Amino acid sequence: MHARLTEAWEPDPQLLGGRIALVAGGAQGIGQATTRVLAAAGATVVVLDNDRESAEPLAREVERSGGSAVPLIADLREEAACKAAIDRTVSDFGHLDILANVAGGMSKHAQWRPLREWTTDTWDAIVHLNLRYVFWLCRAAVPAMEARGGGAIVNVASIAGAFGCPNQAPYGAAKAGLINLTKTLALECGPSGIRVNAVSPGVTLTQAALGTMHEQTRAELGRLTPLQRLGRPDDIARAVLFFASPLSDFVTGQTLLVDGGVSVTFPYEGLGR
Ligand SMILES: NC(=O)c1ccc[n+]([C@@H]2O[C@H](COP(=O)([O-])OP(=O)(O)OC[C@H]3O[C@@H](n4cnc5c(N)ncnc54)[C@H](O)[C@@H]3O)[C@@H](O)[C@H]2O)c1
Repeated sequence: MHARLTEAWEPDPQLLGGRIALVAGGAQGIGQATTRVLAAAGATVVVLDNDRESAEPLAREVERSGGSAVPLIADLREEAACKAAIDRTVSDFGHLDILANVAGGMSKHAQWRPLREWTTDTWDAIVHLNLRYVFWLCRAAVPAMEARGGGAIVNVASIAGAFGCPNQAPYGAAKAGLINLTKTLALECGPSGIRVNAVSPGVTLTQAALGTMHEQTRAELGRLTPLQRLGRPDDIARAVLFFASPLSDFVTGQTLLVDGGVSVTFPYEGLGR
């Protein structure tokens, strides 16, 4: 049997050498794993997050382990802050090569509910957190990447963007929108050498996801997953690394589902036997 990739896997530290990466929502969960993986691959990582208490120690940890990361505290709900974050990165480091849009999810205040029970405010909050800031960051980043002669944008969507999504309508709609935005930007930016791709995680073990899930549900979801476990933040970060790096130089407009095989499960299992 082949040895499995483990959490101990480390990328080639030259893979992203000299690259400047901005990770939006880079302080916790999948974003934190993305910050660590991109830094381990040699990038200087700007950790854009509104959670100072997580972003600053993470940047220090990366520096201690020989990598390069700086926190940039900003609120992605603010248009001016998004533009300023890109401008600041370019003025501090000279250029921007990689933009990973990871922040998102169901707002902490939003319960799962049928469509008729969503308010305009909660709908907007979720769509903004998963889609609108990506537009703002990309709009500011693309000219900087064009000036550099190319770049890579990686959006973290969700399998929820690929299927109907009962009780999570704004989340599913926003992630489907993000997948479409990925394709559109790929077409618009391809001639400038900017690649745009998305990673769609299945259920992934972050505090945000675990907080809404009973232990029993978690076990059941793992059992229903072809690879027999839920995702780890690192699983998703490695896919982001692939799209951010020259390993995917001829790949753009794609969405990679990193879900342990859930999305290819046959829905009529047992039928016709
Ligand atoms: N965890 C899962 O099961 C799962 C499944 C599918 C898709 N995803 C997607 O993966 C991404 C990350 O999910 P996660 O579980 O790691 O989430 P998380 O809540 O653990 O991390 C999100 C990060 O974004 C930051 N953030 C949130 N709002 C912000 C704001 N307004 N301004 C700046 N920073 C902000 C948070 O501080 C945090 O560091 C999201 O886009 C989510 O939709 C997650």
